[in-house]
Amino acid sequence: MGEPLLQVQNLCVEFQRHAIRAVDQVDLSVAAGETVGLVGESGSGKSTLARAIARLVPVAAGRIVFQGQDLLRLSPSQLRPWRRHVQLVFQDPLASLNPRMTVGDALQEPLKIFRPDMPPNERRAAVSLMLTRVGLQAGAAHRYPREFSGGQCQRIGIARAMIIKPALLICDEPVSSLDVSIQGQIVNLLLDMQRETHAAMIFIGHNLGIVRHVSHRVYVIYRGRIVEHAPCEELFLRPRHPYTRALIASIPQIPPVAVAVEPAVIETPHRTGGIRGCAFRDRCPHAREPCAAAAPALAPAAAGHWVACLRAGEI
Ligand SMILES: Nc1ncnc2c1ncn2[C@@H]1O[C@H](COP(=O)(O)OP(=O)(O)O)[C@@H](O)[C@H]1O
Ligand SMILES: [Mg+2]
Repeated sequence: MGEPLLQVQNLCVEFQRHAIRAVDQVDLSVAAGETVGLVGESGSGKSTLARAIARLVPVAAGRIVFQGQDLLRLSPSQLRPWRRHVQLVFQDPLASLNPRMTVGDALQEPLKIFRPDMPPNERRAAVSLMLTRVGLQAGAAHRYPREFSGGQCQRIGIARAMIIKPALLICDEPVSSLDVSIQGQIVNLLLDMQRETHAAMIFIGHNLGIVRHVSHRVYVIYRGRIVEHAPCEELFLRPRHPYTRALIASIPQIPPVAVAVEPAVIETPHRTGGIRGCAFRDRCPHAREPCAAAAPALAPAAAGHWVACLRAGEI
């Protein structure tokens, strides 16, 4: 992989009214054309991190360097042209589409914003082409989102995100709300589109099998902190962090790793302020006194493999 397209450094996002630090000192990088998986249980901060990178939520601290430019230092008007380069695909495809807008208008909108010079007939042609590209009929342009199934709505969401050829596509659980029978088609569509456009992708998912299938590298997030990241197969075959091991052990299709951790619970409890020490220590069978003193930093464990666990070397 080449130069980083995106470098997130020490990123913190807080919801002050709720006294929650949802993203805590996150470092993450994405190379051009790379697919980075992001996994962690519900409430761990995945969507907030995605929305922060897309500049949809305010950031408390850190840097978001995209193509060499720190997006957090740009004024709103300077930021506008950058927005086209980072597009999001959401979990609930119907909710992310305006019910009063035809599909054609929804797809034309980003072109109007980011390519205002494009003549209307070219814009309509681009929309028809895009609709057929994602497996819908060009006539879909005249219909409304509610007339489509969940899978078709997600195709529309992907079309809208890709029509302005972003350099980075962030997919936030793009198939979680879809029928299992359709999930594969949508994942394959995303991979095809990515191959054609060379876009980089951040793929958030809690189906680890799908994340493993699509990702080059994978980050594991727990209570807002990255606890481990590694090349995809390295992470799934040799997970080092007790939390990653527990996550992987709870998927049936991958041979379970022997670990003495209870299966991941569904919702991380809310907390106030930052956490002292390792965030996982209260659930970790390997926790010792030093784990309570300070949050362990990510340290290299193998080539490209980083783990934030004081005991990673011994367990
Ligand atoms: N708009 C918000 N206001 C207050 N708290 C929020 C908001 N969005 C998310 N949170 C909280 O931030 C934490 C991370 O949430 P989220 O990023 O949605 O996690 P995930 O996508 O991993 O399930 C949770 O504790 C959640 O309740
Ligand atoms: Mg989420």
